[in-house]
Amino acid sequence: MQKPILLSGVAPSGVMHIGNYLGAISQWVAMQETHSVSVMIADLHAITVPQEPAALRENTLRMARLLIACGINPEQSILFVQSHVPAHAELAWILNTMTPLGELERMTQFKDKRDRQSDTYAGLFNYPVLMAADILLYQTDAVPVGEDQKQHIELARSLAKRFNNRFGETFKIPEGIILKDTGRIMGLDDPIKKMSKSAASANNYIALLDEPDEIRRKIKIAVTDSGADVAYDEEQKPAISNLLRIFSAFSGSPVADIENRYRGKTYSTFKDDLAECVIEKLTPLRARYRELSADKESVLAILRAGAARARASAEKTLRTAQEKIGFL
Ligand code: TYM
Repeated sequence: MQKPILLSGVAPSGVMHIGNYLGAISQWVAMQETHSVSVMIADLHAITVPQEPAALRENTLRMARLLIACGINPEQSILFVQSHVPAHAELAWILNTMTPLGELERMTQFKDKRDRQSDTYAGLFNYPVLMAADILLYQTDAVPVGEDQKQHIELARSLAKRFNNRFGETFKIPEGIILKDTGRIMGLDDPIKKMSKSAASANNYIALLDEPDEIRRKIKIAVTDSGADVAYDEEQKPAISNLLRIFSAFSGSPVADIENRYRGKTYSTFKDDLAECVIEKLTPLRARYRELSADKESVLAILRAGAARARASAEKTLRTAQEKIGFL
């Protein structure tokens, strides 16, 4: 029987943090056994805000290495760069012609990003339509993402339905998969906002490539809540609750067990142990990343092979959509 299809993506910024990892990437890695997995490095999305060309190229390669280091297995899964598969831009154009402006105006990520730019371009506004194309091209069943992508997945679903209603069954309706505990990891320096690579300070996040001392330092200075108990309470103790969720995800122990372990102990003991736990998980990953850095050619070969496999299925769906809408 054919495995369900999973597609997800990550923008090639210079940083991948533990929010990306716990919310999204670790899900993709775990689902490789049960799903047919495609992981896309979204460079077309990256250029919706200005990019330095040399940095974009380097960050794309870096992201590929990081994904492999995280456990995406290129022998089993398809790892590719979005711009290597022209069907994404082509289907996005078609979908743009059926996307009501009002739906894009409501997108909270657009509003956030627009507020951080001095100039806003049409590409940033149309970003969610391209994302819908990414998903729909592969007849995707499952799209594991962090919570910040929820609205975008909803748009992909509604565009698929709209197209199917008007032109007949063409696209599968995808399901977003968002984890309850790790779908929204909060910033270490501000537990009211999500952890973000575009945060003003690098103390907001732990990057997967941060060195152990850097991880210790960032966790030590992470914001805590008033009171002294290591207790889970999202309303009263958002900072400690966030750290507890991170600890639980990296250690595999339920939050309640960790609360028990630190009953009567200080925030500082809790943080020291959390730092060691994160370091233990990230150290092998950093080592694999370093090995891959020594061999640029083999990573490029993986991306080339991934693009060829992705193109084959993407073009099939694009062709069907083009026929349905009446292209000669
Ligand atoms: P990006 O690169 O911003 O983030 C990659 C993934 O990490 C998740 N994430 C988080 N999860 C939990 N807590 C956080 N603080 C946190 N921050 C980020 C994101 O939700 C995402 O799943 N638009 C996408 C890339 C994309 C895509 C797609 C995803 C392009 N096309 C098609 C799915 C399907 C993005 O910029 O993700």
